[in-house]
Amino acid sequence: MTTISLKIEQAKQLFTKLYRSNPDAIARAPGRAEIIGNHTDYNSGYALSAAITQSTLVLAKKRSDNIVHVYSVGYSQEPSSFLLSTIEKGEHGHWLNYVKGVLDQLMKRGDIMGVDLLIDSDVPSSGGVSSSAALELSLATAVASLYHITIEGVEKAHMCQQAENGSFIGIPCGFLDQASSGLTKKDHLLFLDFKQTGALPVSQVKQIPIDLSQFHMSFVVVVDKEVKRNLGTSGYPARRAKCEQSVPVISSIIGRDISSLQDVSIEEFENCRQQLGKEDDVMRKRVEHIVYENQRVLDTVKALQDGDIKKFGQLLTESGKSALELYELDEQTPELTLLVTKGREIEGVVGMRNMGGGFSAIALALVENDHMVPFKKQLAQEYGAPLTFLSFEPGDGAELLL
Ligand code: GLA
Repeated sequence: MTTISLKIEQAKQLFTKLYRSNPDAIARAPGRAEIIGNHTDYNSGYALSAAITQSTLVLAKKRSDNIVHVYSVGYSQEPSSFLLSTIEKGEHGHWLNYVKGVLDQLMKRGDIMGVDLLIDSDVPSSGGVSSSAALELSLATAVASLYHITIEGVEKAHMCQQAENGSFIGIPCGFLDQASSGLTKKDHLLFLDFKQTGALPVSQVKQIPIDLSQFHMSFVVVVDKEVKRNLGTSGYPARRAKCEQSVPVISSIIGRDISSLQDVSIEEFENCRQQLGKEDDVMRKRVEHIVYENQRVLDTVKALQDGDIKKFGQLLTESGKSALELYELDEQTPELTLLVTKGREIEGVVGMRNMGGGFSAIALALVENDHMVPFKKQLAQEYGAPLTFLSFEPGDGAELLL
């Protein structure tokens, strides 16, 4: 029996014990790794991402009395309950708000009469791999199936982003996390053009094949879980606002209407670098990161298509340098710089960069398999605090299992 089928079997048994009946729908959705394309999502730019191996299972059964029971392996002592008719946000930051936020979105699209839920996840929370998107997508997939709510993959990911941005959760994230948990494909990187992807049917979302085994290399996510941050109260909203403010400023400098930073070519940026810097040098740095990062994503696609793994690694490292120097994601978290700068110097590391929102100590490394064990040992030693390493192979996005 595979690990996932064993997990499903155990979860089914627990569901039956808790609710005295079998589930009618089972779904799983993975955590995500941002491969490259840092902070490009809310700038309508480009990114490449992958589903990690770890995922969240949601088992569900209909009820007809307007009640929701939720049991989370790991978080619950016993099932929590609430009424759908008076659904409201609980204590800020509580995991139940994620369940409520998604159900609230689903109720706008169909009738839900109540549900028994069991959640079982091995996606580490505060691991920087978007355990929240995994929960949202898995829950949305299970409950939509239970109540025959037809919602296509891209729309479902958008709905989950709305849940995350909305009043129950209130995190101003872009589309990266939910798109990645929802739309990824095994042995592929998901190519996201944030200007386009929101309007595409799943069949037209671009997937880039990747096979690291032929290069004897692997991805690993490295996390110092003690360095915690909340995206909503970190420097994330300020970065986002600065980029949004830059759009009319750049439009007026280059004398052309643009709708987002994706519309700014490197040449145009270089032509307005000085003037932008004089007006607002912080803005100049943020824009410089985004404009060059978009190009790096496109260059990465080409490098992968050409089988140029060395170039791929270089682009990862350049992305990380830019994020630290120009986007200053290490503001208040010097641990991030320490982690990435130490890590990328270690033998066998082909590329290494920060991953996700920043203001934490989370990185992605591409490492030669022969050097993986010594890499982990040396990095933990040089970093000087316990680290969590999460190896993964790009897997499938959200799916209905029953
Ligand atoms: C976090 C956010 C995403 C994205 C990344 C940075 O993971 O949730 O929307 O902005 O940071 O690329």
